[in-house]
Amino acid sequence: MESRARLLGHPIHQMLIVFPLGLLGMAVIFDVIRLVTGSAGLGVASYYMIVAGVVGGLAAAVFGFIDWSAIPSRTRAKSVGTRHAVGIVVVVLLFAGSWWLRLADPANPPTLAFVLAVVGAGLSLATAWLGGELVDRLGVGVDDGAHLDAPSSLSGRPAHDRSDIAPRRT
Ligand code: HEM
Repeated sequence: MESRARLLGHPIHQMLIVFPLGLLGMAVIFDVIRLVTGSAGLGVASYYMIVAGVVGGLAAAVFGFIDWSAIPSRTRAKSVGTRHAVGIVVVVLLFAGSWWLRLADPANPPTLAFVLAVVGAGLSLATAWLGGELVDRLGVGVDDGAHLDAPSSLSGRPAHDRSDIAPRRT
């Protein structure tokens, strides 16, 4: 099922999700290193990565919503997409709460800020898996008729077009 929100022929949602997943996951890794080494600079780095990750997550969510709204009702894809979206909204809220707790002193965040970030990162793995299920198993965001010799997304031709494939000799 083809994505509705595309840029240069590819789903925008899939382009943007790397930012929140990478930034929020890295913020937790920096938190752990800060706890081990005591480096205050990493606390500040985590703080800014969470800000960027939450903003990136909201941007990705807009395009995810556009694609989700085109999935027919009463399909497994709709149900998986709904669980994916609800889960990811909780993830963003957890990190937003973590960021809020860091506001007073980004270099030395309270333990609860770290706990919220760890729970958020754990939940993001589960919700990202649901996103992968949507694409890899249920074919959401995949061009109709995609195949190994499909023409370029920039050609203006449908993926199932096989007109320029030379017939195989038998
Ligand atoms: C922080 C926000 C979000 C993140 C990090 C995220 C993450 C992901 C991931 C990892 C995938 C699989 C991509 C792949 O395997 O190539 C995916 C796919 C998908 N997600 Fe999300 N998601 C977010 C928000 C949302 C929201 C709010 C919705 C719906 C309301 C949504 C709907 C979808 C849909 C429909 C797909 C299938 C692929 C597509 O149509 O682009 N996502 N998402």
